[in-house]
Amino acid sequence: MRQTVLNLEESRIREVANAGIGRDDVLAFWFGESDEVTPDFIRQAAIESLQRGETFYSHNLGLPELRQAVSGYMSALHGPIGSDRIAITSGGVNALMVAVQALVDAGEEVVAVTPVWPNLTAQPAILGAKVRTVSLKTVGGAWSLDLPVLRAAITPSTRVLIVNAPNNPTGWCLSRAEQQALLDHCRQTGTWILADEVYERLYYDAGDTIDDPSPDYPKRTAPVRGEARSASSEVVCAPSFLDIATPHDRLVVVHSFSKSFLMTGWRLGWLVVPPEMTHHVGKLIEFNTSCASVFTQRAGIAALERTAEVTPRVVAHLRSCRDTLIPLLAAVPGVQVAAPRGGMYAFFRLDGFDDSLTTAKRLVVEAGLGLAPGEAFAPEARGWLRWCFASHDPRRLGLGVERLRHWLAGAKAPGTGIGV
Ligand SMILES: Cc1ncc(COP(=O)(O)O)c(C=O)c1O
Repeated sequence: MRQTVLNLEESRIREVANAGIGRDDVLAFWFGESDEVTPDFIRQAAIESLQRGETFYSHNLGLPELRQAVSGYMSALHGPIGSDRIAITSGGVNALMVAVQALVDAGEEVVAVTPVWPNLTAQPAILGAKVRTVSLKTVGGAWSLDLPVLRAAITPSTRVLIVNAPNNPTGWCLSRAEQQALLDHCRQTGTWILADEVYERLYYDAGDTIDDPSPDYPKRTAPVRGEARSASSEVVCAPSFLDIATPHDRLVVVHSFSKSFLMTGWRLGWLVVPPEMTHHVGKLIEFNTSCASVFTQRAGIAALERTAEVTPRVVAHLRSCRDTLIPLLAAVPGVQVAAPRGGMYAFFRLDGFDDSLTTAKRLVVEAGLGLAPGEAFAPEARGWLRWCFASHDPRRLGLGVERLRHWLAGAKAPGTGIGV
């Protein structure tokens, strides 16, 4: 077997979850998904497709109707994006893998901004790329970009910059100015930008109740099909590289139905690529999965046709989960936390508990609380814990904080001999 594969680290999140196997009293917030089932009309679309007998392969790039629907959805958010730039994939993970296969040869250098969901650094490593990481910086409980440091790390030898914003796990978002600076720099160095924007709709800037909103994040006025009828009448979306790039820039954007449409188990996503790249991406999809399953794609079309019934509600609910959890967590002695601007995670530090893998395992066993350890996302995030707040019942969040508080009151910080 390849040494690279033997060297791959197992998921640290799974390692913690395994500590809770067989226990049904654990409040689990470790995985990055909502505990809410996919809306019924989306499930019905898949059922109807199967009943019609749509059990065959589709085009490598996806059903033309779905590519058209994605093009309409993305164009409404970011200006015209033709369906000739859209490739349907079997989830965001598959989109990322196909993108890396398309862009990076073994031995080439990629720069990734960390902490980040581990797949983004593992996938290029699996393909033999040299992965250099540039860490976000922390002030208090908040993570932000050190733009000069990142710019200095991207040289003409850098084939791809991999960046995920809104970010899993930190909730950090790129500002428009930072995106522009990175795009300008990457144009000069000839570097591709692989932007993972799967959380773009889970963005809490407008009407933020906890943080000061940043002025440079534009709000779009209800352009998405169907969403103009929604009560809020305002479609919120994080800044995207697509807003500022030309179709022919070296930019690939990764998307997913998982988060904004409650469709994690369906494995459906898409790529936005320069038009001259689409055909080649189709070839790669052939050799990876051949295509996404047709009934799943039908569900995707239904989701996009009726986004007004799903995404604004999901975002409003996640915002209220965030606004419930963060103040409760911040009030726990020893916790450093900032309100995330996007995504669905609280990322926090526990003073005195520097080994968060051990802490997370102890929390499962001793407190019945399931969190993801910071080490899963970058070595520099050791000492941090990620809490996914996508909970259909926000009371679970309060209960979880109570368990943490209670555990901390009894636990001793390693090496200090004193309770925290
Ligand atoms: C940053 C990021 N990108 C991509 C994905 C992939 O999502 P999926 O494969 O479910 O579409 C995830 C899932 O958690 C994620 O956190």
